[in-house]
Formats: sequence, C-alpha cells, structure tokens
Amino acid sequence: MSTIRLTTPIPGPKSRALTARRAQAVPRGLSHGTPIYVAKGEDAWLEDVDGNRYLDFAGGIGCLNVGHRRDEVVAAVKDQLDRFLHTCIQVTPYEGYIRLAERMNEITPGNFPKKTFFVNSGAEAVENAVKIARAYTKRPAIIAFEDAFHGRTMMTLALTSKTHPYKAGFAPFPSDVYRVPFAYCYRCSYSLKYPSCDLYCARHLEDTFKRVVANEEVAAVIAEPVLGEGGFIAPPPDYFKVLVDLCHKHGILFISDEVQSGFGRTGAMFASERYGIEPDLLVTAKSLGGGLPLAGVTGRAEIMDAPGPGGLGGTFAGNPLSCAAALAVLDLFEKENLLARANELGERFQRRAHEWQQRWSIIGDVRGLGGMQAIELVQSQETKAPAADETKKITQHCYEHGLITITAGSYSNVIRVLVPLVATNEQIDEGLDVLESAIAAVCDKKGAVAQLV
Ligand SMILES: Cc1ncc(COP(=O)(O)O)c(C=O)c1O
Repeated sequence: MSTIRLTTPIPGPKSRALTARRAQAVPRGLSHGTPIYVAKGEDAWLEDVDGNRYLDFAGGIGCLNVGHRRDEVVAAVKDQLDRFLHTCIQVTPYEGYIRLAERMNEITPGNFPKKTFFVNSGAEAVENAVKIARAYTKRPAIIAFEDAFHGRTMMTLALTSKTHPYKAGFAPFPSDVYRVPFAYCYRCSYSLKYPSCDLYCARHLEDTFKRVVANEEVAAVIAEPVLGEGGFIAPPPDYFKVLVDLCHKHGILFISDEVQSGFGRTGAMFASERYGIEPDLLVTAKSLGGGLPLAGVTGRAEIMDAPGPGGLGGTFAGNPLSCAAALAVLDLFEKENLLARANELGERFQRRAHEWQQRWSIIGDVRGLGGMQAIELVQSQETKAPAADETKKITQHCYEHGLITITAGSYSNVIRVLVPLVATNEQIDEGLDVLESAIAAVCDKKGAVAQLV
C-alpha cells in the first residue's frame, strides 16, 4: 500500500494561502524549500493542511532518525509536561539532565572519563566546544574545512565554508579561524586520487602549521566526520586517524561535529566510530532530541572542566522536555536495531542510485555512509560541472509528487537522504521511485543531461 496520497494539486489551496501570509509576515531570509504546510506527521510521513500525504526523506534536516512523533518520545514528553516545564539547570537542577549526561558519556566513543553539557541548538553547541577547547589549551586558533557547515551564529559562520547564502553580507566574523581542504575525493582540491594520494589532504596539515598558522597557536581542528550541508562527503576510511594523530602530536584537540551524522545516521551511533576515532570533544544535536530542540558537547572530563563555574550555561540549555525526549530516543536505540537499519537503507539507496548513474550522465557521484546517502548532480560525468538548476527542478518535481527531499553541497547540486530510520522497505522504494521519475522528467527535457542508454 502506498504511503503517498495526493488529493489536490501541490501545493494545495490552504498551503498556498499560508505561503502568501508567510511572505507578508516572515523575512525572506528564511528559505522556503517546500511550500507545503504540515498538519501532522508519523514515522516517515507528513500530512499537509490540504490532506495530502508525503514521504519525508528530509526528516526535518536529520532530526528524526527515530521517526516523527514516536510513541515513546511523545509519552516521555507528556510525562514531563505533567511535572514541570522549566526551571533553568543553573538555578534549580533536575535529574533528567544528569541522567542524559551520564548516558551520553557512556555511548560516545572513547573509554575515558567524560562529561556532557547541553544547549539548545547545533550552532550553540559548536560555539561552546570552541570555548571549551580554547579554555583548555589556552590557544586561540581553530582550523576548519572547506565545505564545512557548523551553523549560523557568528563564530559558527566563521567556521562554515559556503559563501552564498550563508556568509555573504554578514561579515566581519570572529578571527583566528583557518580553513583547509577536506577529503572531497570527487573534486579533490589537489587533483589527486585515493589511495595513491596517501591522504595528502590530511598530511598537508603539517604544511599549514608552517605556512598558515603555527601549531602551538591552534586550540582545535573541527570536522564533520561526514559533511552534512557540504554534500554528504564521507572521507576515505583511514583519513580521520591520520588527522587526529596529527592533531594530538601537536597538542591540538579534535572536535567532531556530529550534529547531522550522529544518532545512527551512518550505521553507527556516531560516525566517529565508523572511522575508529575518539574525538576529544563531540558535538551533537538534531536527532538527539527526537524532534525537540537539544544539543550537547561531550568530551574528556579534564577538557570539559576547563571553563570555570559560570563559564558555561544558557537559560533554556538542556530544558526538561528535551532531556526527557532524548532519554526516550536513547532507549529506542537500545531496543530497536536502528543502526543495522541505517545500513540496509543505505544499501537500498546505493543499489538504485548506481543504476541511475549507468543510465543518466547527470548522476556524477553516488556516496555516503550507512543511511547518510546522496547523489551529486552534474552537467556531464566528464566535465563534472555542477547541475544546480536541475537539482532544484528534481526536488520540486519530487515534492509535487509526494516526496520531500532536500539539497546540499557547496554548488547546491546534491540531493541528500535523511529519511527516518524507521521507514519500511516499501516506503524507501516508493520514495526512490518518485526520485527516479523526477530525474527522468528533468533529463528527458534537457539534451545536455540526456540518457546514456
Ligand atoms: C554539522 C552541523 N553542525 C552544526 C549545525 C547547526 O545546527 P543548528 O541548526 O541546530 O544550529 C548543523 C545544521 O545543519 C550541522 O549540520
């Protein structure tokens, strides 16, 4: 039985009316990818205000790995609603926060004493990871990567790579941020090939210390183990070991930003595990809260304790409802085999996407780790010129036919899959059918990205 059920032209009349109201009431800076207004969501689907039902391959940008409105999460939040809503952890603390910190300390990579601190958003967590790293090392500089995305606050914009629409017009940014190429093998900055490159991009950090910023000035290197907004780029398996070893050789901390790659998305609880690394600081958010806003920084106890009392905090940081939801999320990961499921979903996606790549020259790269999968779209497989307009048309065709998808990539030419890990095989196949017909519709119209066969 199909999940998608469309009963009006998309967007429907009620969604259109809301779009008109939004244009009057909300600034245009808030992007508007899918002009469909939601009335309800369950598991892997959403229903709009016109009664149309969609498959959700975006999951609120990767926040719903356990699914929309999971019963267990809703029950935990309801239970907390009946007790108290807010006290502020710095004023009158509560057990949920402590229990969640204990569990985060247990499940994050590394068999060493850890501590965890919670905030509201991914960007706020990254900001705090930088503060903690600077307090511990007493060094100012942070090294970030090309194609990285770490948030929209001023420090995280300094760390974020993509200029338009994120950074342009918002300068100046905080100083002492340095940027180096990432292991984006499809478009290697050094025009090398893995494995013969011998991970030149990772080893090149030594050169950066000579020519860009002195190693003794660097507090931390921050990286997403799999780039999120940057286009779902998963470096070669041995990349992060080389990078982290280099950091530690110079007394530099390694911060793993797992805001998007965490909580089962890559087939391990944290993508860092897939690379066999133990970050000094690990940043989490998104799917941690099961749909409620929550983010955390987990790290080696001695590092986390570097800021003095009062140095960390926030009025709503780690609010009781979000902590209750997150504890239910962690229970679900213990009960259900969501990690194996992420890998199955990833394989299912890869099988189909590789077929598309044989058929259409527009599919330049098929890549990902576990359930964090994407296709990069190009004008032709030879030139690799980014196909941003076509990418937009494909995602539009998708939502008009009942599939919510989102794009990514510094060239806005990547379609990424962040479907809730509870989606069934039938739902995955149904969604991929829509995506396939969207690619066919766009490729059939445009000679330059014509079919290969
Ligand atoms: C890797 C990464 N870090 C940080 C952020 C910022 O998180 P938030 O939007 O919750 O501030 C994001 C958001 O997409 C992200 O993907």
